[in-house]
Amino acid sequence: MHITLVAGTRPNFVKISPLIHAIQKQKELGVSIDFNLVHTGQHYDTSMSDSFFTQLNIPQPTINLEVGSGTQAEQTGNIMLGFEKFLTNNPTDLVLVVGDVTSTMACAIVAKKLNLKLAHVEGGIRSYDMSMPEEINRKVTDSITDLFFTTSSVATKNLLNEGIREDQIFFVGNVMIDSLLKNKPFFKEPSFFQNQGIASKEYFTLTLHRPSNVDDPDNLNMILKTIQENSNGKKIIFPIHPRTQKIIEQHSINVEQIVCVPPLSYLEFNYLVSNSFAVITDSGGITEETTVMGIPCLTLRNNTERPETVTIGTNVLVGTSTDNLIKHLSILQEGKWKKGGIPELWDGNASNRIINHLLTLFN
Ligand code: UD1
Repeated sequence: MHITLVAGTRPNFVKISPLIHAIQKQKELGVSIDFNLVHTGQHYDTSMSDSFFTQLNIPQPTINLEVGSGTQAEQTGNIMLGFEKFLTNNPTDLVLVVGDVTSTMACAIVAKKLNLKLAHVEGGIRSYDMSMPEEINRKVTDSITDLFFTTSSVATKNLLNEGIREDQIFFVGNVMIDSLLKNKPFFKEPSFFQNQGIASKEYFTLTLHRPSNVDDPDNLNMILKTIQENSNGKKIIFPIHPRTQKIIEQHSINVEQIVCVPPLSYLEFNYLVSNSFAVITDSGGITEETTVMGIPCLTLRNNTERPETVTIGTNVLVGTSTDNLIKHLSILQEGKWKKGGIPELWDGNASNRIINHLLTLFN
């Protein structure tokens, strides 16, 4: 069988890496399977893209559509134009998209309109918050997907509730965790650890990039001020997404007590997280990684599409009120954070399960 894999952003690269390795393993065993990899170019900086390809051992993409930045519509439109041309010239049995970014949705639409079979890895997750571009991407993608690979029984249930047939859904676990477990022995201390005298468990890792938190400078300022005032002597290390960096610079937001660093490579970022006292974030994927690493996680959002990180894992939805953030920082500092467990099938084998299912269905 032939699969066309799509990736466009940082978290996508982490998810396709183990899928490619699972395909390569089958190929080496003599199974008839091959793939093309399409990089849409939604993320393009070396730190946001190339370093992930190198560290996660992802082969060079068959094509990079080089769409770059733009409004949601510009990005979506440019990805669709490029991907349609590619698929027209490069026949395939199945298009496989991962996650919930603009590239996921744009390529899903193109594939389906060309009457190709479409698989969605991480299907069915829902925040039920339509102000998030990712929720729109999830719902649009899942409304036209043929085969769903889910990370949790909640995601499976969401799909069944939306009328998806049971035989279209495969609960396989979490490909992001496949990457995490495989790469754990290679996590790498970032160079600034030495220069800045950073000690294990003595700092917070902070990440913020969601438009709802960072696009309004007053809001971003308030979040950063609250964290700086309530870190209780612990350092705050902040690998800054380019979107957030621009807003901090344009509005001269005070980050004096924060160690600001550029976006980190995968192995350095996860070294940082695994040695943190706690993580403060508005990301979704990071809440899965902290759950598996057993690191306390405070999520600056009112909802999550990954509820198992809260019900089973170490994650707490702190919301966007500063009072609530202060309250949870003090619970953490009193040593009263929950211990957390690991969700079912987050065991490093999701990609093998996915490729095995596909081989059974297509060969
Ligand atoms: C995207 C995803 C988000 C995911 C995040 C992970 C969507 C709708 N959002 O958000 O779900 O959690 O990736 O990182 O797809 N930029 C650069 N260099 C880059 C990439 C981006 O400078 O390599 C800047 C650009 O100014 C761009 C801005 O960052 O306008 C935002 O990038 P974009 O791809 O639109 O969305 P993200 O915020 O990265």
